[in-house]
Amino acid sequence: MSAKLQKDIIILAIESSCDDTAAAIICNGKILANKVASQNIHELYGGVVPELASRAHQQNIVPVVEIALKEANISLKDLSAIAFTKGPGLIGSLMVGCSFAKSLALSLTIPLIGIHHMEAHVLAHFIDDPKPGFPFLCLTVSGGHTQIVKMNDYFSFEILGKTIDDAAGEAFDKAAKILGLPYPGGPLVDQYAQSGNPDKFKFPQPQIPELGFSFSGLKTSFLYFIQKQEKENPNFIEENLADLCASIQKAIILHLMKKIIKASVQTEIKEIALAGGVSANSALRKTIIEEGAKNNWLTYIPAFEYCTDNAAMVAMAAHFKYLLKEFEPITTAPFAR
Ligand code: KG4
Ligand code: ZN
Repeated sequence: MSAKLQKDIIILAIESSCDDTAAAIICNGKILANKVASQNIHELYGGVVPELASRAHQQNIVPVVEIALKEANISLKDLSAIAFTKGPGLIGSLMVGCSFAKSLALSLTIPLIGIHHMEAHVLAHFIDDPKPGFPFLCLTVSGGHTQIVKMNDYFSFEILGKTIDDAAGEAFDKAAKILGLPYPGGPLVDQYAQSGNPDKFKFPQPQIPELGFSFSGLKTSFLYFIQKQEKENPNFIEENLADLCASIQKAIILHLMKKIIKASVQTEIKEIALAGGVSANSALRKTIIEEGAKNNWLTYIPAFEYCTDNAAMVAMAAHFKYLLKEFEPITTAPFAR
């Protein structure tokens, strides 16, 4: 690969904002490798333990980068830049990725590119075709964020609405925890919900003005409902697991959909994208496509590998930053914002 032409833009991207250590290689805007080392240790604690996450990143980062380089058939000297997630995220986790990226960029004397995690989730839409056209609306739903973003350009956006408390991913994970499911519970709720009746149990819809979101009330009403039912029938969860998952999932999706529909009406934008870990949810993907067909939207949903945390999305965003020559000062590069 060293015979590559010098004009090729080849970037190694690192993502370490939470509990996934990820590395990707992008060449001229095309992903050549996308590797993730997930940290199963957190399952034991029912959530991400920041200290353990940083330690696991330290252990995983070199092997993950080596595997990504090997798969892409790229050597370090081919690289044009090193990109990393600079935040938001767990400080200790971010520091591992930042320090690694800084050191490598320094030793190779190539630019360093810092990427905002949520921008990366949205820009994952530019990895594959079809790509959204500007302006588009993106419902960005992860474990830490729930936002409706109006994207005017790659790095020019307005946040039209966001959650006032929990994020949608947290709502899934907390509901799963109440049901006794292990962390992260979102994917399990999705799985059980597939054989459940979403109309079996009703939970009150959050009443938040405009394009805001709120999930904490939903979580509390779910908890109280389960506690009440369990007093009468200790096997209530076991006997109703699929229906409970389907019903709480429906309530979360309904809240998300109401707001994205409202945003589309208000802005008259019909290019609608979904991003972030919760965009892997099968019912949400199906619902947004169905709603899109009703409203003449052009709907964009990322491939599964680009929904939850990954470095390909960081690499894609970094490619655009490279074209703009927006680099981080290597001595003072921040690791969070
Ligand atoms: O984007 P992400 O990987 O990390 C953050 O930036 O937070 O999102 C993780 C969140 C977790 O809350 C996880 O439970 C949720 O995304 N998630 C899902 C599904 N897959 C991941 N939630 C519901 N259904 C899924 N299939
Ligand atoms: Zn994320």
